[in-house]
Amino acid sequence: MKFFLDSAITDEIRYAIDMWDIDGVTTNPRHVQASGKPFMRVIQEIGEMFAGTDKPVSVQTNPHNHSDYQAIVDEGRKLAKLSPNFVIKMPCTEHGFKACKVLKEEGIRANLTLCFSPVQGLQAMRMGAHLVSPFIAWKEGNGEDTDVFIQDLVSIRNNAFYETEILVAAVRNGRQIAFAGAIGADIVTTSFDVYKEAFAHPYTDLGLGRFQGFWDKTPYE
Ligand code: E4P
Repeated sequence: MKFFLDSAITDEIRYAIDMWDIDGVTTNPRHVQASGKPFMRVIQEIGEMFAGTDKPVSVQTNPHNHSDYQAIVDEGRKLAKLSPNFVIKMPCTEHGFKACKVLKEEGIRANLTLCFSPVQGLQAMRMGAHLVSPFIAWKEGNGEDTDVFIQDLVSIRNNAFYETEILVAAVRNGRQIAFAGAIGADIVTTSFDVYKEAFAHPYTDLGLGRFQGFWDKTPYE
């Protein structure tokens, strides 16, 4: 299973590459705004960090163009020229799906974002999405199931042998990361802080304290 970092903050990305061997990055307008840098500058900086690798960087198109596939295609072509690592993000709307198909025929990879139902995911797969991004926390915040949702997406993909990778997004804790892995999702993307917290456990710290006590009372030779 692959771990992507959901961030446009270059210091976080650098740390995640170095310490966690992160497999890729996802960005969205919120992350770009949080970076404090202009869109084009920050995405090119991130692209350069992965130059020479096969690790993908998802870059989101203008969300105002959700019902204008030609505008999504035009922007996707422009962004894809900037880095071979870029995967172009577009929404799970009719026009997003159509743009995905057009770009796929030109060899440009798409990440279909804002996926909230199995059938949206299925249409993304049919239209040749490289990635589809179901948003977990947003659905749970709306009182909806997400475990069966992700399981359904994995089953749909596996049953029909689609090539689309399922990128579980808007992940908020280690249980959600592990669940996504357990049911056969391909990728999770989450924030720097969620990974930090998920990689630690209070019992690991407790056990270290205990072992340090024994260690300190025992001669070494
Ligand atoms: C995924 O690609 C999105 O960038 C991300 O997971 C969105 O969720 P969030 O902003 O609520 O974390």
